[in-house]
Amino acid sequence: MTSRQMLLCMQFTSGYGAEPGAWRLPGANLSSYTDMDQYVRYAQAAERGKIQLLFFADTPVLDVDLEDQAPHHPIDPLLVMTSIARETERIGLVATASTTFNEPYTLARQFKALDVISHGRAGWNAVTTSDPAAAANFGHHIPPRAQKYERAHEVVQIVQALWGSWEKDAWVRDISGKRFADMGKIQPFNLQGRHVASRGPLPIPPSEQGQPVIFQAGGGSYGLELAGRYADGVYANPYTIEDGQAQRQALHDAAKRAGRDPDEVKMFAGFMPTIAPSRRAALDRRRFLNESVDLRQRVRYLGAMIGLPLTYDQIDGGRPRRRRCRRRPERPGPV
Ligand SMILES: Cc1cc2nc3c(=O)[nH]c(=O)nc-3n(C[C@H](O)[C@H](O)[C@H](O)COP(=O)(O)O)c2cc1C
Repeated sequence: MTSRQMLLCMQFTSGYGAEPGAWRLPGANLSSYTDMDQYVRYAQAAERGKIQLLFFADTPVLDVDLEDQAPHHPIDPLLVMTSIARETERIGLVATASTTFNEPYTLARQFKALDVISHGRAGWNAVTTSDPAAAANFGHHIPPRAQKYERAHEVVQIVQALWGSWEKDAWVRDISGKRFADMGKIQPFNLQGRHVASRGPLPIPPSEQGQPVIFQAGGGSYGLELAGRYADGVYANPYTIEDGQAQRQALHDAAKRAGRDPDEVKMFAGFMPTIAPSRRAALDRRRFLNESVDLRQRVRYLGAMIGLPLTYDQIDGGRPRRRRCRRRPERPGPV
């Protein structure tokens, strides 16, 4: 008999809640953004509540107006997850990092270290990043989509090769034989792509789960192909049940096209609950939070997601003029 079990993931933001005004709610810890004890308390409550994993979204940019809003990302997803890892036992720890603005060796080393520190609970949400202001923080522009995803495929493959560069029993720790590790089982692999390369191996042994799991967030054909090929989990934000089912089906098809068992890829559909002692109190709380939404920031975010420079003053205007782009037939491929 098979039993169906729902997997629950909790998304953390900057320590207050996802809405811009959440930091002003009565009882909020005003220092949550930098208070690791607060994050640890939330994580321990989630673990007690049977939530399987914690998730940090991230874009490496200050993209809110701090005059009246708290940031919506943590000070650093990996470092906050490391603080949480030491104070929790079972809950999964998935952090976001960009495939466009990081080198694969750095990503592989940091996530593998978190995996070992947490005894096999780490995951990497591999995103390509679409905000031009984030690109500017690295002195770059957002590359064309095909190029961005070609790099993403190379980065994920090299990261996985680095994670796999120790065989399972390579770390022998044999005092009498004076052998710390079996170097025959720790090998360089020399991968060279068009955008990134690495020699390997990584100086970190496998964790209890072997290596971190891979997540992906974002839609579109390129994102789906990335998820279909590598992801164990996908974070999605469908707005209706039908939309959620369609996204699940598209992910299912993408995994099949990649030759994988589609049930290996779990989809986590996001929703934002408002929790209070009564329905009335929850509705009041939701109204307060909704009123704090900053439409200027949301319009800018929408523009980054769809690749158009949208501004708030266009909100009542006509359809923005779209620059004609030539279609690029080539698809991202293996390294
Ligand atoms: C539900 C969801 C969550 C996302 N989370 C992140 C994130 O944490 N960090 C990030 O840089 N981009 C995030 N994205 C953006 C995507 O990775 C992607 O850049 C975006 O969908 C635009 O697609 P493109 O990269 O194909 O242009 C998210 C997208 C969706 C739909």
